[in-house]
Amino acid sequence: MTDRYASFVQSAAGRTLVKRLGLPDPPRLRRHHPGDPLLPGPALLGAATGGRLAEPVATILTTAGVELADPTAAASTDTPQRYGALLFDATGITDSTGLRQLYDFFHPQARSVLPSGRVIVLGTPPQECPTPREATAQRALEGLVRSIGKEFGRGVTAQLVYVTGNAVTATGGSSHPAGTFTSLESTLRFLLSGRSAYVSGQVILVGAGDATAPTDWDRPLDGQVVLVTGAARGIGAALARVLARDGAQVVALDIPAAGDALAAVANDIGGTAVQLDLTASDAPTRLADHLASRHGRVDAVVHNAGITRDKTLGRMDADRWDQVIDVNLSSQERINDVLLERELIPAGGRIVSVSSIAGIAGNRGQTNYATSKAGVIGLVGSLAPALRDRGISVNAVAPGFIETRLTARIPLVVREAGRRMNSVAQGGLPVDVAETIGWLAWPASGAVSGNVVRVCGQSLLGA
Ligand SMILES: NC(=O)c1ccc[n+]([C@@H]2O[C@H](COP(=O)([O-])OP(=O)(O)OC[C@H]3O[C@@H](n4cnc5c(N)ncnc54)[C@H](O)[C@@H]3O)[C@@H](O)[C@H]2O)c1
Repeated sequence: MTDRYASFVQSAAGRTLVKRLGLPDPPRLRRHHPGDPLLPGPALLGAATGGRLAEPVATILTTAGVELADPTAAASTDTPQRYGALLFDATGITDSTGLRQLYDFFHPQARSVLPSGRVIVLGTPPQECPTPREATAQRALEGLVRSIGKEFGRGVTAQLVYVTGNAVTATGGSSHPAGTFTSLESTLRFLLSGRSAYVSGQVILVGAGDATAPTDWDRPLDGQVVLVTGAARGIGAALARVLARDGAQVVALDIPAAGDALAAVANDIGGTAVQLDLTASDAPTRLADHLASRHGRVDAVVHNAGITRDKTLGRMDADRWDQVIDVNLSSQERINDVLLERELIPAGGRIVSVSSIAGIAGNRGQTNYATSKAGVIGLVGSLAPALRDRGISVNAVAPGFIETRLTARIPLVVREAGRRMNSVAQGGLPVDVAETIGWLAWPASGAVSGNVVRVCGQSLLGA
């Protein structure tokens, strides 16, 4: 579905009108194309005194081909510079007075970030801080990042990455510096690149966990077997394409009634198609049998299939309630149980579920849907720690307003409001959700588990 308003404001006549009338001004977002550099310009890296991450981050950036700007040139007012990204290691901030270092770094650079540039602040998870004062200061970082996301505009995104003490070790750095820091590398690469175009204002936790760097970062899923449910159309179809582009062997699943569309997607990407209704009582065993006989395993499972059956609660019949909970939540649990019990998801495996901002904010007419999607968040919270010892990560994405058939059906006025009520004044594309899921499925992202990442352009809903 197209956003005609966004296309119009990018024309010459549109630009004039938008400026004159002060209308919403959706920027053209930078999206990923294989072979693209990570950033549109150099990165400026700063650090609070005593920070522990500036060095590994500098190594990751230079290994990834990012030019690091000279901080002394940045301080000089006669040579104004433009940056592709501002990164700040805030792990050295141990009490609220130290927060001034954020102002000192970001204030002079507030206008220096290029369109679709990136702001990333790195901190220590508050629950891991040794003193209440440090925990307070580290929690404060969220407010800065979320405000920058709303303030900088022009497609600039801002994120906070909390990195646990055991996620990045400095040992062994001299012989294999880049390999040592892989746990953080996949997240930085994702956030800096055009893959994260519609992700902003997020807090991401990078912990300990095995992470394997790919031989080619343009094919981060090389050789991985990935199951995508609901792959016949919408987000699932985009997801199948993105995963295949990134090197995965995709097993695309959808209901038999969507068989033709599913076959078209699978043929297009050289994947396989499985026609199966996830709510059928024998679905988990049939799926497990298929994966076992065809591939012997499944490296990543993406639970994307979902339905809506909207009605306000007083008017909702029990069938609408049951169907939505069953497709969106219970079927995920049944499938996980069987695949895990039969050990078809190996160590290093990934489970990624699709939630929704409705599961965070709630939504009128969607008690069933919001319950199921909040349940998905609960599933991540409970399963991620339980599977840590098996080396399997569990995460969810929560899309906001994404341009699909689902959102095309929303009445015009409500649709326009949903589209514009975010920091980039536009809806996301299925590919934006797909890229985010892809990152969580990478073998290199093993240190990212238990997260719910919103793909919503920093929507005001539930923020
Ligand atoms: N579009 C949005 O703005 C948006 C926002 C938030 C969350 N989401 C979530 O993203 C996911 C994909 O959404 P979409 O917009 O692409 O929806 P969609 O309706 O276009 O696609 C969903 C797919 O799931 C399949 N499916 C439904 N029931 C199934 C079953 N029982 N067994 C197997 N397959 C089944 C459908 O046939 C369909 O192909 C859903 O979980 C949805 O709730 C979407």
